[in-house]
Amino acid sequence: MPDVLISNEGPVRKIRLNRPDKKNALTLAMYEAMAAAIEDASSGDSVRCILIAGAPEVFCAGNDLNDFVTMARSGGLGEQIIRFLHALARCEKPMVAAVAGAAVGVGTTMLLHCDQVIAADTAVLMTPFVSLGLLPEAGSSLIAPRLMGHARAFSLLVMGKPLTAEEARDAGIVNHVLPADELDAHAFNVARDIAALPPESVTTARRLMRGSVEEIVARIDEEAEAFKTRLASPEAQKALATFLSRKR
Ligand code: COA
Repeated sequence: MPDVLISNEGPVRKIRLNRPDKKNALTLAMYEAMAAAIEDASSGDSVRCILIAGAPEVFCAGNDLNDFVTMARSGGLGEQIIRFLHALARCEKPMVAAVAGAAVGVGTTMLLHCDQVIAADTAVLMTPFVSLGLLPEAGSSLIAPRLMGHARAFSLLVMGKPLTAEEARDAGIVNHVLPADELDAHAFNVARDIAALPPESVTTARRLMRGSVEEIVARIDEEAEAFKTRLASPEAQKALATFLSRKR
């Protein structure tokens, strides 16, 4: 089975992360598959809403940390990652996320691009970027302070304080919190309801509400440049090695 499952159910495109043995940590191939699925949905008429989901126990453990080690050696950041982040920012179709369990790093920051986020009561959002010697990405340094105010965004993005599902709802990231066994059905209903609305009105309203896409893309690129430098830093090297060599 592929690590990302892509299917259409009527006008809803489903993108499901499917690497549960590694807690849905994202490889470059997974970024590429998600980017292609979003770009394709965005450019055509048949998809009216995108639904992003993870596994029942975990939404996404963020970037694969082994890949971060490789990237630090090469001095680059995978073009697949940038392609995915640009696809999120430039997407013309509404996006819904269904989140259960941990959403770490980009597992949380991708939610800031979604129009509706439905969370199981098991969901925990966390961005331990700074404790890993890294930086907030995916445009989160721009979007999160606007969404929840600087102080709460600082707790999340810089101090790495996790948010429970309820706290994420209070912060304006999450719409609804549900028992885990109701998550998939509810999130699909939300996506289907959005898909049933007049599509041009949805697209235009969404575009107006989101503000300048180019500003978000520019911030993603600015963050990525700084991220590359941080990835090669001694702090990041040490933190990555500690996670990858831990004994359990
Ligand atoms: N990159 C690579 N592998 C990862 C990973 C990641 N981001 N997150 C988890 N894994 C792997 C673990 O190495 C482990 O692999 P193994 O079974 O071969 O040893 C497997 O997934 C299970 O992870 P484990 O930590 O045992 O699961 P858990 O339920 O105890 O904890 C998390 C889940 C998500 C809280 C924990 O794995 C974690 O903190 N991961 C790192 C998250 C992170 O820092 N991401 C980057 C943010 S910038």
